[in-house]
Amino acid sequence: MGARAAQVLLLAHPAGHSFSPAMHGAAFAALGMDAEYRALDVPPGALAQAVARLAEPQFLGANVTVPHKEAVVPLMHELTPAARSVGAVNTIVNRAGRLVGHNTDGEGFLRALDELPLEARTAETGSAPSHGGLAGATCVVLGAGGAARAVVHALTGAGAHVHVHNRNMARAERLVADLATGGRGSVAVAQDVSALLPHTDLLVNTTSVGMSGGPEPSGLPLLTAAQLATLPATARVADLVYRPARTPLLAVASGLGLLTQNGLPMLVWQGALAFAEWTGREAPVDVMRAAAEQALATAPG
Ligand code: ATR
Repeated sequence: MGARAAQVLLLAHPAGHSFSPAMHGAAFAALGMDAEYRALDVPPGALAQAVARLAEPQFLGANVTVPHKEAVVPLMHELTPAARSVGAVNTIVNRAGRLVGHNTDGEGFLRALDELPLEARTAETGSAPSHGGLAGATCVVLGAGGAARAVVHALTGAGAHVHVHNRNMARAERLVADLATGGRGSVAVAQDVSALLPHTDLLVNTTSVGMSGGPEPSGLPLLTAAQLATLPATARVADLVYRPARTPLLAVASGLGLLTQNGLPMLVWQGALAFAEWTGREAPVDVMRAAAEQALATAPG
């Protein structure tokens, strides 16, 4: 790779577990672009300096991941409406020295969900229901961290009614207060999750429970198998975790005959949306998906 190649960085701490370098490297190669994507380990104290460098002309921009997504917000020259509402940036675009903070996680989640459409809801008519079946749908989101914020913002924007359940319910209350105003849908804390489940169209896990190397790799997030069994046969279950590909939650859900999706499609789509912002070109999504699947298949653990 020549010294003049365009560059994209992943600002992370620690760096090294991400599939994004494989995904974006494959995308640049597929389009014959002289560009490289590499992960950079940025300790919190070095973040401001690393972000400032992104304004140099060789940088198309960056991705931002744990633990920096919120800390980079005040370092941006501009924020997209999604990044501002969610309060987090996962993608930085260098627009002629001005750093624009985007958040493609929520839209990436919706694009992934298009691969897992909800049952057609005949009651929905009229105003352009994008993202199959979400307008008026009842969704239960498990978790109230950064990923939950992006997902809730996207779901309410698509017109869904979202109920948030979390271990720390005070955190769920804060999420609801912060995101209550946006979108055509609604968001509330799940006061009684057991009562909601029989009417749920979509259940989404945004917690790290079930993730290999996470806090409870073999556990179910916040719900028992008996509670999951009360979901209607038409319910969809999405888990943002993708390692392992079949999480304990998804294993129980598919055992109940429900349609499921892990976090890999969202990873691919948030990346594809970021790629398009950096390059102005349509992302080769299938190439990126194949690279992510390959990286998952060969990842340790
Ligand atoms: P992310 O950016 O991936 O959302 P985060 O902001 O650290 O990460 O949020 C992690 C989420 O996983 C939170 O909802 C957290 O619950 P709390 O807010 O109660 O901490 C949830 N989580 C992590 N470990 C958990 C566990 N062992 N049981 C239940 N929830 C857990």
